[in-house]
Amino acid sequence: MEKQINELKDACLSAVKQAKNVHELQEIEVKYLGRKGELTIILRGVKDLPDDQKPVIGKLGNIVKTELENAVANQKTKLQAKELEESLKDEDFDITAPGPEIRVGHIHPLSQTQYEVEKIFNSMGFMIMDGPEAESEYYNFEGLNIPSWHPARDMQDTFFIKNKRDKKHGKMVLRTHTSPVQVRTMEKYGAPLRIIVPGQVFRNEATDASHDAAFDQIEGFMIDKDISLSHLKGVLKEFLTRLFGKEVVVRFRPGYFPFVEPGLEVDFSCLICEGKGCRVCKKTGWVEFMGAGMIHENVLKAGGIDSKKWQGWAFGFGLTRLVMMRHGIDDIRHLRSGDLRFINQF
Ligand code: DAH
Repeated sequence: MEKQINELKDACLSAVKQAKNVHELQEIEVKYLGRKGELTIILRGVKDLPDDQKPVIGKLGNIVKTELENAVANQKTKLQAKELEESLKDEDFDITAPGPEIRVGHIHPLSQTQYEVEKIFNSMGFMIMDGPEAESEYYNFEGLNIPSWHPARDMQDTFFIKNKRDKKHGKMVLRTHTSPVQVRTMEKYGAPLRIIVPGQVFRNEATDASHDAAFDQIEGFMIDKDISLSHLKGVLKEFLTRLFGKEVVVRFRPGYFPFVEPGLEVDFSCLICEGKGCRVCKKTGWVEFMGAGMIHENVLKAGGIDSKKWQGWAFGFGLTRLVMMRHGIDDIRHLRSGDLRFINQF
């Protein structure tokens, strides 16, 4: 047996040395060391040998195996280097030529403005919250004082999710606004609160230059003792003035949203024409910006907050629209197109 192993070793070593290329070498490796290779078969037979021979032959077999594996590996390195050298001989190859340009990505214009908004509100003590995009009908509507019979449901064309139910609240939707995070946050942290919620929302819209089925909103709300709409005006004026780097005037008009009372529409002075009237502000001098109001007591209740002790305001605006306005983007569909010719302009 010993003799057989040693002969096999010599035969294998000399074959390895003579291999002319990596392919030949691989064949030799399979022949001796492969799963059905000669040495493998011998080693597999060790268990059937008489007890006194098992350790001797087993040990020798393993030493030879390692030796042959090393020989194959060394020869492989040599042959590969040789093959590379030969392949380069025929090529016109300039190793000093610069490599392909590495493209570095950058932050999407939507995220750029989102981060700026977050930074400004953060510096005023607002915390940034997140919420699920697949939301229960409860948080999206009922918790916000919009029961199923309420006509205000028609304000938002909703995607209902068929085969998925929330464990606690049953039916689910793709959230139509970021407002559901109001009740979620109240439940989690109680009062007082200063929160903003950036996030994606979904509506069953026919797409055109100003409508998309998915877009981004930012919700904001503040709950404390003795909070009034003058705090809202102050916060918004400060926010917009910092964002645009220009003094901005904020205007409130009455508006209706079921989750606030009183409800407001908020405009700001047009920055393009400085109030004189232009295409952007439709010649009014004002840009319609967001919905807002004092949080309805039913919403505070849904969030487990005592409306006798605490009150607050909330607002919601379209981040997508803000970004379009800021950069003069005339078609909302560009923003999610993934078209680098568009993205690389920002
Ligand atoms: N959720 C509303 C929408 O998507 C926007 C809104 C209006 C949010 C008034 C608010 C609010 O927090 O107070 O149309």
